[in-house]
Amino acid sequence: MTIKAVKGTHDILPDEMAAWHRIERAAHDLFRRYGYREIRTPVFEETELFARGIGAETDIVSKEMYTFTDRDGSTLTLRPEATAGIVRSVIEHNLTNTDAALKVYALGPMFRRERPQKGRYRQFHQVDVEAFGIKSPSIDVEIIEMAIAYLRACGLGAWELVINSVGDASCRPAYVETLRTALRAEGSRLCADCQRRVETNPLRVLDCKVPEDQAIIEGLPRISDHLCADCRDHFAEVKRQLGLLGIPYTLSHRLVRGLDYYVRTTFEVISRDLGSQNSVLGGGRYDGLVKELGGPDLSGIGFALGMERLVMTIPAMEAEPRCAIFVAALAPGALDHALRLQRDLRGAGIPVLMDHEGRGLKSQMKRADKLGARYVAILGDDELAKAEWTVRDMKESTQESVALDQLAGRLIERILGVTKQDKHAVD
Ligand code: HAM
Repeated sequence: MTIKAVKGTHDILPDEMAAWHRIERAAHDLFRRYGYREIRTPVFEETELFARGIGAETDIVSKEMYTFTDRDGSTLTLRPEATAGIVRSVIEHNLTNTDAALKVYALGPMFRRERPQKGRYRQFHQVDVEAFGIKSPSIDVEIIEMAIAYLRACGLGAWELVINSVGDASCRPAYVETLRTALRAEGSRLCADCQRRVETNPLRVLDCKVPEDQAIIEGLPRISDHLCADCRDHFAEVKRQLGLLGIPYTLSHRLVRGLDYYVRTTFEVISRDLGSQNSVLGGGRYDGLVKELGGPDLSGIGFALGMERLVMTIPAMEAEPRCAIFVAALAPGALDHALRLQRDLRGAGIPVLMDHEGRGLKSQMKRADKLGARYVAILGDDELAKAEWTVRDMKESTQESVALDQLAGRLIERILGVTKQDKHAVD
C-alpha cells in the first residue's frame, strides 16, 4: 500500500508556490515599514509553556495539542500557535532590555488536532506579529491597520474587521461572575459543553456555535456594559483612531477568542469568500502574559493570520515561467557550448534550462514552450558548421543567427537591459 500524507496535513506543491511566495514577500516588505523584525522559534516547546500561556481550559490545550514524552521523560508539545513561544524567547533572551518597544514577526507551521475540513488543518501555517511594551491604544490601531494593509497587499478582496474589548484583571472577574450567575439560571437549556463551561470558563460560552444556544447567548449580560473606566477609555480611543484612519469595523460583544491570555482589545478579520472557517486572522492584547510566564510586567499585543486561508481567498496566480531561455543542444559537439552558455546566463541571474537527454528538435521546442521560455537557443549540425547559434524568439516568432561566443552577452543585454560589461560593473 502506498503511504499518503497524514490526515489533516497537506503538501504545498510547486505550482501553488507563487501565491505562497507572494504572501511571504509581502510580509517581509510590509512589516519592516512598521519596525518589525523576524524571529524564528522552535516548533516544539515544553508542554507547560502552552498550558500556562494559552490556558488549560481552552480547546487548544485541553483537546488539540500534539504532546509526546521525550526519551528523557520530559513532556513536549508541537506548537499550536506562535505567541507563547515568542514570549518565552523574549524573556529568555531579555530582548526587551535593549528594546523597550520590541516588535517581532514570525512565519511557520503550527499544529492543532482539530477535525479537518476546508480551511482547517492539523498542520497549518501562520504569519504572526507581536509588539511588546507599548500600553497606548495607538499600538492596537497601528497593528490592526498593518494587518489590513497586509491583506490588501496580498490581494484579499472582501473582508470584515470585527473588534471587541474583553476587559482586564480589574473588571473581567466581576463580569465573569455576573455571566456565571446568568448562565446557571439557564441550567440544562444549554448544550452539554456550555453547562460544563459555566463552571470552568464561562467566557467560552460566548464562542458556542450550537444553534439552540444562540438565542440564550444573545440575551446574556454583555462585557461592554461591565468594563472599568480604564478599559472603556482604552476601547473608546481604539475606536476613535480606527475611525480617524478610515478603517471600517463591526463591534461584537461575543469576540472573546479561543485563547485565555487576551485583555482589552480583541479583533478578527473574516472573509466572506471562505466557508465556515472564515477567520483569516485574529489577535488582541495580552498585557499579563509576559509576567505570567516569568518575565517582566510588560504589555503585549499581536495577531496571527492563517496562510492557507489567505492563499485560498486571493485571486489565483499564474505559475511563474520556469525559464527565460531554453537551450537545445542537438549535435553531439553542441554540449560543451551549451554548458558554457548556461553557466554564463545563470551567472548573470537568468533562469536557463536544457534538455539533458538529447531529444529531437520538435520535442525540445514543445518542452521550451511548456516551460514558458522566451528564447530557445538551438545548436545543431548546421549551426555548428557555421559556428553560430540559431535563436528563436518564442513570443515574436522570429529567428536569428548569433556567433557562438556572442550569444551569452546578447541575451543578457536583451533580457536584463544591460551589456555584459555593465553587468560586471553592477556586480
Ligand atoms: P488563532 O485565532 O488561534 O490565534 O489563530 C489565528 C489564525 O490562524 C486563524 O484566524 C486562522 O486563520 C488560522 N488557524 C487557526 N487554526 C487553524 C487550523 N486548524 N487550520 C488552518 N488555519 C488555522 C492565535 O493563534 C494567536 N496566537 C494570535 C495572536 C498572536 N494573538 C496575539 N498574538
